[in-house]
Amino acid sequence: MDYGMKNRLSRIINPKTGKTVMLAVDHGYFQGPTTGLKDFKKNISPLILHADCLFITRGMLRTSVDPAFSTPVCLRVSGGPSILGDLSNEDITTSLEEAIRLNASGIGMSIFVGAKNEDRTISNLGRLVGEAERYGMPVLAITAVGRDMVRDARYLGLACRIAAEIGAHFVKTYYCEDFFKVVESCPVPVVMAGGKKIPEKEALQMTANAVKEGASGVDMGRNIFQSDNPVGMMKAIKAIVHKGASVDEAFEIYSKK
Ligand code: R5P
Repeated sequence: MDYGMKNRLSRIINPKTGKTVMLAVDHGYFQGPTTGLKDFKKNISPLILHADCLFITRGMLRTSVDPAFSTPVCLRVSGGPSILGDLSNEDITTSLEEAIRLNASGIGMSIFVGAKNEDRTISNLGRLVGEAERYGMPVLAITAVGRDMVRDARYLGLACRIAAEIGAHFVKTYYCEDFFKVVESCPVPVVMAGGKKIPEKEALQMTANAVKEGASGVDMGRNIFQSDNPVGMMKAIKAIVHKGASVDEAFEIYSKK
């Protein structure tokens, strides 16, 4: 891995802890105005400075994020179908040149293993990695889960391993039972997506479990920005990921208004 790639990755994954708390706010790329992201500037600006990295589309970055913010950015570069269509029908929507112009520290795209367009999304990942490596840009592969797929260690392990084999520099996937098996069989860092909003204590417990089972942190959205105390939740997740805080300690941090 060359200097540029290492330097960018170290802006996303803290070299001191080997972990990251990424704030995922890209949901609108297929869901439109997602709850919590409708009034993006008002709701998300106070959170950005607490995040290790912001996972976002170019459109929201350009229109709704203050360029003076120092938080590193990982840019979602895939899309195509909306929530009304075949979600696996994704292609690359944002060029590497644009990612560099926007000063991204990484780029991310989804692969849809087991879905109709798995082959195209996996080949797209291969092409993107090839191009990104020419410029020292890390690629995050996201193992999107189709409606009919079971979120278990066998399936998510398969998807993460394929992403790493194709060359992804880090992978985002969902939590599942025996998550350690997913991490163990994946040679690159695995970060956990939060999934649908669940009660805060459960989200903190899930994070603690994931980190204990080897996750390199989280790329979490709804369980932070849909919380009744998003900044508190952000701080609580950070305490677990970077400082090894217990769930009770983290819950106390979240509860402070
Ligand atoms: C999915 O649309 C995106 O990749 C999200 O960034 C990812 O699912 C993480 O967000 P959440 O924690 O809300 O699942």
